[in-house]
Amino acid sequence: MVVIDSVGKLYKNGPEELHILQSISMTLQKGKTVVITGESGSGKSTLLNLIGGLDYPSYGSITVEGLHIETASEEKLSNYRNRHVGFIFQFHYLMKDFNARENVMLPAFMGGERRQHALERADHLLDQVGLEKRKDFHPSKLSGGERQRVAVARALINSPKLVLADEPTGNLDEGHSKVVADLLFELTEQYQTTLVVVTHDMSLSTKTDIHYHLREGRLEEQ
Ligand SMILES: Nc1ncnc2c1ncn2[C@@H]1O[C@H](COP(=O)(O)OP(=O)(O)OP(=O)(O)O)[C@@H](O)[C@H]1O
Ligand SMILES: [Mg+2]
Repeated sequence: MVVIDSVGKLYKNGPEELHILQSISMTLQKGKTVVITGESGSGKSTLLNLIGGLDYPSYGSITVEGLHIETASEEKLSNYRNRHVGFIFQFHYLMKDFNARENVMLPAFMGGERRQHALERADHLLDQVGLEKRKDFHPSKLSGGERQRVAVARALINSPKLVLADEPTGNLDEGHSKVVADLLFELTEQYQTTLVVVTHDMSLSTKTDIHYHLREGRLEEQ
């Protein structure tokens, strides 16, 4: 489902070239989970953004369900991101002017789903993440862990084939990290979603099918 073949990413910094990712290859079957650990600055977010079609690789190919990310047009990529990928960012990026239910339903509504249907699905997902009593709350009235649970629900609203999570538990304490991580793994399993998590949090590495470590631009299978 996800095939990464000899992918590299270079950034130009004046005359200097930073070779952040070097000839990375990885294959991920449908429904499998992978965690990629690595030090700060090792390129985890860069790699996740490439898989999510938020950026182009400098060389190599990334194919997701037959779509070649490296050559796809902006329009194709935008469609791919909205329809097929659920993103969970380290800092949730919820819309502050919308309540939890509206934040969760938004990607479905933008994808053309009827408002009522999108709201019903959002309600169901919010129940699943244990926020049945917080649906009308705006992000400013939610705790960090609750916001992250809204982000998990939002990532799943379009029944994506692929969920990409960047430090999903990064700014939570141990107890809340566990709640959010367990939810993420339970729900992606239930929906048969392929999951890629990048994190510093080594405790997540025991929960996935595959564990890679990113070091000096290269992926090492653990
Ligand atoms: N647009 C850019 N231009 C130049 N360098 C960049 C750019 N984006 C990222 N980098 C560099 O690429 C490296 C990898 O960044 P990345 O955000 O992928 O790291 P990370 O592993 O996610 O780190 P963290 O754990 O701190 O989130 C960093 O050293 C960063 O400075
Ligand atoms: Mg990062």
